[in-house]
Amino acid sequence: MELVEAMRTTGTCRYFSDEPVPDDVLYKAFDSARFGPQGGNRQPVRWIVVRDQAKKQRLAELYLPYWDAYFNAIAGGGVNVGALPETVRSADHFARHLAEHPALVIACAEIEGLHVTDADLDRVSVVGGGSIYPTVQNFCLALRDQGVGSAVTTLLCHEEPKVRELLHIPDGFLTACHIAVGYPAKGFPKKLTRTPVEQIVGLDDFATPMFS
Ligand SMILES: Cc1cc2nc3c(=O)[nH]c(=O)nc-3n(C[C@H](O)[C@H](O)[C@H](O)COP(=O)(O)O)c2cc1C
Repeated sequence: MELVEAMRTTGTCRYFSDEPVPDDVLYKAFDSARFGPQGGNRQPVRWIVVRDQAKKQRLAELYLPYWDAYFNAIAGGGVNVGALPETVRSADHFARHLAEHPALVIACAEIEGLHVTDADLDRVSVVGGGSIYPTVQNFCLALRDQGVGSAVTTLLCHEEPKVRELLHIPDGFLTACHIAVGYPAKGFPKKLTRTPVEQIVGLDDFATPMFS
């Protein structure tokens, strides 16, 4: 499919059909994903595709308490999912059916392979992720190109030690995100909600809009 259309319609898919995603479709997606950039071209990213039902179940059990806490924070302690916006309702459905999604793909990265140039600043460090998440987005785009949906999640990163144990991830590797993958049960979005260009680009100065 056309690149810009793929970029504009690769939303978070939270309803999947039961149809398995064939190996050759995943292969093609990983094959394109690996062209993502990384600092120093160190190629730190490794993937695990989880299809095993017991392992998906365990990942779902680990995910749900974090989702519930997040959900309760949003809902102010209420549980009336129907009264909440569609995104939260779909995220709640997604969380409660995590073990049923056709595949859960874990993006891992070799810590030594990350060139973390902001590690010493007095703020949260993000540069390490710059060698991982472009590759993850390539993966999602390459799936979209083949009619496959994806949902990038990070709540399970809270439980990285348990995930590492479950999937035998070696020392020296981190988990960057967990991507649910499958054919969308409700199609792809026509229009994603994002901040307009006019509000996010400065010219020569942070506060001077480049476009108006
Ligand atoms: C870094 C990152 C972490 C995310 N973590 C979660 C998550 O743990 N659970 C979840 O349901 N969605 C997660 N999402 C999906 C976002 O909620 C989603 O991208 C956002 O609501 C926009 O949705 P849309 O692409 O459908 O418009 C995550 C997305 C990103 C990029």
